[in-house]
Amino acid sequence: MNLDDPICLCFRVSRRKIISYLRIHQPRFASQLSECGGAGTGCGWCIPILQQLFARSQNQPIDLNLDQLDFQQYQQDRGVYLTLKSNRENKRDNELPEQEEQNST
Ligand code: FES
Repeated sequence: MNLDDPICLCFRVSRRKIISYLRIHQPRFASQLSECGGAGTGCGWCIPILQQLFARSQNQPIDLNLDQLDFQQYQQDRGVYLTLKSNRENKRDNELPEQEEQNST
């Protein structure tokens, strides 16, 4: 991935923008990256990478090399993530009425 590829695909927030935010605002927690264009507040797919970028800004060792990550693959993997997430939510929604019926009897 290059610097201008979006890390957060939901809100089109690039790695360059996140790195700049980290340098300028020096957040204390990774979750504060949500203030950078809403990064990480959509589907959640990018949160592990945001956490890695935050860790790097804190001079902590990280195990991810974003330069070697293929952007097309990153997008495709997110598609799989969204499908699995949707299936999980649908399954949970379908199970709720039965549980509610059992609780009311
Ligand atoms: S890709 Fe960042 S929240 Fe969805």
